[in-house]
Amino acid sequence: MRVLEIASEAVPFAKTGGLADVAGSLPEALAGLGCDVSLVVPAYAEALSKGLPIEPAGIEFDVPVGTGSRRARILRCRREGRRADVYLVANDDLFDRPSLYGGASDYPDNAERFIFFSRAALELACRLGGPWDILHCHDWQAGLVPAYRRLLYGSHPALADARTVMTIHNMAYQGLFWHWDMLLTGIDWSHFTWREMEFHGQLSLLKTGLVFADSITTVSPTYAREIQEAPGGCGLEGLLASRRGSLTGIVNGIDTNLWNPATDPHLPRPFGEADVGAGKYAARAALAARLGHAAPDSRPLVAFVGRLVEQKGIALILAAIGKLAGTGRAHFMILGSGGHEEEDALRQAAAAFPGTVDLVIGFDEGLAHLVQAAADITLVPSRFEPCGLTQLYAQRYGSIPVVRATGGLVDTVVDATPEAIRAGSATGFVFRGFDAAGLEHALGRALTAHDDESLWNMLAGNAMRQDWSWEASGREYVRLFERTRAAT
Ligand code: ADP
Ligand code: GLC
Repeated sequence: MRVLEIASEAVPFAKTGGLADVAGSLPEALAGLGCDVSLVVPAYAEALSKGLPIEPAGIEFDVPVGTGSRRARILRCRREGRRADVYLVANDDLFDRPSLYGGASDYPDNAERFIFFSRAALELACRLGGPWDILHCHDWQAGLVPAYRRLLYGSHPALADARTVMTIHNMAYQGLFWHWDMLLTGIDWSHFTWREMEFHGQLSLLKTGLVFADSITTVSPTYAREIQEAPGGCGLEGLLASRRGSLTGIVNGIDTNLWNPATDPHLPRPFGEADVGAGKYAARAALAARLGHAAPDSRPLVAFVGRLVEQKGIALILAAIGKLAGTGRAHFMILGSGGHEEEDALRQAAAAFPGTVDLVIGFDEGLAHLVQAAADITLVPSRFEPCGLTQLYAQRYGSIPVVRATGGLVDTVVDATPEAIRAGSATGFVFRGFDAAGLEHALGRALTAHDDESLWNMLAGNAMRQDWSWEASGREYVRLFERTRAAT
């Protein structure tokens, strides 16, 4: 099975969130299951600045964009021990920029950047030679690929038998652009209708992918159900419901080498289940030193690592801090970056409770590992969460997740009810309503459980033993690819 993975970010090249983790690790998992896999990503400045073994692939071509064309230079990265091939599409005008998608606001030419990228991926597939079996497209940035395959590249020998799979990582980001950007796509205006590429007068790259893909997946079974209704579908629920026969939810796996507390180079003292206490203490001491505290305190450490945006329930975290920080029951550590409003509100909270609320604004991969290792409890109180990876990393690092019952959080965290504790299956604390009282109650339950050492050790052990590797989910993707090829 020959598979081309097409994604706008992938670890270790460039990352803004969980998509990069998935696009970085899934290709290796598929390769391990016998697929012949290539990954294509943009050659951002970030990707080229990391000292990775990236070199010209000797492939260059012009990509039609609107009435003109733009040059694509293909680079290749060969890393030892890696089975999947990695290609990077370079065009300095479009990708040699300080960030992936823009700063405080999106780059004004994001439509052009990812129209170019999507078409370049197909041109590259043709030049690498066929036949390809599956083009696996991630999020709106690769949303045009299924349409291009069907409308413009269907008769190319390399792609004639290729089938497309569109994976949704987040319905809230749809790649909506003004209608004139349709001209850049090279696709005929007749497709700019509500049935295909148009969404309330705009060009929707995600919708285009969902309409033209042979199969659709999203990153958890619960989210697959939620997006077929409002508000989860963000306006595309009707389309998704009409395609329910082609829509599958597959929970994300994690890279168990990169996220392994027993070998993690970001930790002062790597640990396993047997010495989790000592490992966590060392991580807390290192974190305290990094934050400028004389020593770690003995209160449970409650952490949040993630994008500081409404989706992630920052308002609920602020309310919980307001209620709990004054009681001395917990120490909070927040690592994230995102919206100015959220950042400012958290700055105020940190200033109001010095020594109890620590805040680091910024994106710091190593610190994310250290925080998960140091934390006793990890908060994921999201309004919606397609899958969520931080609760998976938290579990592996013996930090107990407190999550809202939404999307992938439902599928990956077992609430510590008396029955689940008796059955030995509990891995976290779950609350339902998206309100401050729900989070406070669940966090209160977690802190009470933390006082009971044997109960806490049991929860931590359960969490650490969960298998979130790609083993099962990788197989599900392969089965889906096979079904997709057989069906169409
Ligand atoms: P999302 O993709 O919605 O942001 P996920 O939980 O799927 O949420 O993935 C988030 C990923 O980004 C995780 O790997 C997390 O550790 C990482 N991350 C988020 N914010 C930061 C940050 N400020 N510094 C370092 N890593 C971060
Ligand atoms: C998105 C989602 C997150 C998911 C990630 C990787 O960014 O918000 O829930 O884990 O993609 O699939």
